[in-house]
Amino acid sequence: MSGGLGNGLGRGLDSDFRGDLGAEMGAEMGSDYAENLTKKMGEILDYLRSQGCPKQIHAAVILGSGLGEYTEALELSHSIPYSEIPSFPQSTVEGHSGALIFGELQGHTIMAFSGRFHFYEGYGIDETVIPVRLTHALGASKLLISNAAGGINLSYKVGDLMVIDHIIRPHRRMMQQSTRWHWNMKNYADLAFSVATELGLSVHRGNYLYVFGPNYETKAEIHAYRAMGGDAVGMSTAAELMEAARLGLPAVGVSLITNAAAGITGQALNHDEVKEAANARKEDFARLVSRLILEDRV
Ligand code: HPA
Repeated sequence: MSGGLGNGLGRGLDSDFRGDLGAEMGAEMGSDYAENLTKKMGEILDYLRSQGCPKQIHAAVILGSGLGEYTEALELSHSIPYSEIPSFPQSTVEGHSGALIFGELQGHTIMAFSGRFHFYEGYGIDETVIPVRLTHALGASKLLISNAAGGINLSYKVGDLMVIDHIIRPHRRMMQQSTRWHWNMKNYADLAFSVATELGLSVHRGNYLYVFGPNYETKAEIHAYRAMGGDAVGMSTAAELMEAARLGLPAVGVSLITNAAAGITGQALNHDEVKEAANARKEDFARLVSRLILEDRV
């Protein structure tokens, strides 16, 4: 069973997490919002319990565009389409199958989100982070977040992997005001980078620049984003990492560079390119994710 049992966080399905979360959110975000969220999370947890899903997990992984096949590395115990989970958002993007998966990796219970939620699909930022809240509620000791991203850094090539050092949000405020914004990615990013190197994988470390999407960027925007220090650009992950930090959940983000960002090659960007690049690197990605899940330095 899960090594998560020993993580001391004590937030399994049977814990009083709902009450805690409601109070915490109420203080930060207003009581209507908190009530609604508490209700939604309660429905999700009740449903998972009714399906016999694990009550406690060791780690969770959010799988980005084209990376859903990682679940093949797990000995599956449950695979539940998002559409069957009450109050759960539905993923509408091609290349994201939309299922919540539970399985074992060398005796550790893992939850995988095959398909994620984007602001550009019409969800509120708060809904896009429901997977992070669920991970926390099930007592995970860590969260791995992957995504497909465009390379802004001119030395990046299609198929490269990048461990996210920092995020850049050039737009408006994304989350409700929170005083609990503690950056917790640095140590984990250091570790992810070392683990990748130990595996003989060449990876970058860089800044992930978040855009709302759904349209790809203009050449001028990419030029500006490079000047701002962005190395890769994408439409997910930033809010998920921020929410994990707010909850005190160690999280690391890994980007797969699926295309050169707009205007670099002069070719139009398309979603097929994203899927092809993901396919080519999926084995390396799986090795890195599995090692990070099993790694006990975080
Ligand atoms: N821009 C934004 N998001 C992306 C890209 C891109 O070039 N590639 C994959 N996701």
